[in-house]
Amino acid sequence: MSAFTDLWRELADVGGSPEQGYVRFAWTPAEWELRSWFRAQARYRDLAFEVDGNTTMWATWNPGGAAGPAVVTGSHLDSVPHGGGYDGPLGVVSAFLAVDLLRRRGVTPARPIRIAAFAEEEGSRFGVACLGSRLMTGAFDPGRARALTDRDGVTLAEALSRYDFDPARLGPVPLDGVHAFVELHVEQGRALTVPVGIGSSVWPHGRWRMDFTGEGNHAGTTLMGDRRDPMLTYAFSVLAANKEARVHGAHATVGRVAVHPNATNAIPSRVTGWLDARAASTETLDALLASLGSKIATRAARDGTGFTITAESTTGEIGFSDALIRRCVTVLGEDTPVLPTGAGHDAGVLSGSVPTVMLFVRNPTGVSHAPAERAEDEDCEAGVTALAAVLEELACR
Ligand code: GLV
Ligand code: MN
Ligand code: MN
Ligand code: MN
Repeated sequence: MSAFTDLWRELADVGGSPEQGYVRFAWTPAEWELRSWFRAQARYRDLAFEVDGNTTMWATWNPGGAAGPAVVTGSHLDSVPHGGGYDGPLGVVSAFLAVDLLRRRGVTPARPIRIAAFAEEEGSRFGVACLGSRLMTGAFDPGRARALTDRDGVTLAEALSRYDFDPARLGPVPLDGVHAFVELHVEQGRALTVPVGIGSSVWPHGRWRMDFTGEGNHAGTTLMGDRRDPMLTYAFSVLAANKEARVHGAHATVGRVAVHPNATNAIPSRVTGWLDARAASTETLDALLASLGSKIATRAARDGTGFTITAESTTGEIGFSDALIRRCVTVLGEDTPVLPTGAGHDAGVLSGSVPTVMLFVRNPTGVSHAPAERAEDEDCEAGVTALAAVLEELACR
């Protein structure tokens, strides 16, 4: 069995299974198990282990005792509800294996190489995507982060305290210690037809909370003409988001909904839908939101319901470092595909502050954020080899 297969197996049962998918939310027992695994991997390799104020885990390999900024690689360990096993963990596992490979080859880097695992990348628990990296770069206010609540009403501050993390330590981390950041990730569509590609950019994207309010009432006695039913306005919003996305050449999804009181025989008083929207340009994304917002407002007026839309987290247009892309192409071969992604990543957040690039590993199903997400072991091994080559290039030259 390969080193990849061996290490990958260690995660197979944590927080789910390949068939049912994984539920690995930040600061929960499943994620804690992954944190313990990360620490054990660092110890086993004699890497310096550290957890910063945003609960990002770090493992540092610095055999030559080099001073100065580090080349950072890694990804995240949390998942969407019932997500695939590769989104996130592949980048962390590959990082440890790339260090093993460089060691075996006798490489002594001139810069430290650090492996990072960022917290709450998916925003599955507290709603804000890439929360750990946003806090690190100062893009998200720590006070606002502490007050975020999960679906059970637990604040982020409470969630941290339960694991003995100090919520007061959330906040920006100096980035002058980072020479470059490379995130390896499973590709999340069907765009990559060879084992490994290089990321060029991330589509502008964001999450918006849509609140619809009306009048809760009896399903049997309330005349159809007397209703102020927020479910109708919500239903319209789902269809309108799909239509507007097609019209604008963008992507829009409503993948989460909460209904109050959520009873078959009651007209709801309140419905909340979460909109995820993405486009190749900020202009297109803005145009989609403006058009959708006005169409829903018109519909709400007709339904006699209230409608508000609030941004939960947004990410602007991101292009990865041209210089790093060129160096990756040089190292991996001129014919290595360079491709954009519609998915969000900590690399996208960090690229605003430090030179950043991504490597993608082919996904044979093209599915992600669902149990069918896959990568072949051989492709993952090619990913490790590619990551090691890029790390060597960035840390030795
Ligand atoms: C996270 O993976 C996202 O793209 O939403
Ligand atoms: Mn994801
Ligand atoms: Mn991811
Ligand atoms: Mn992501």
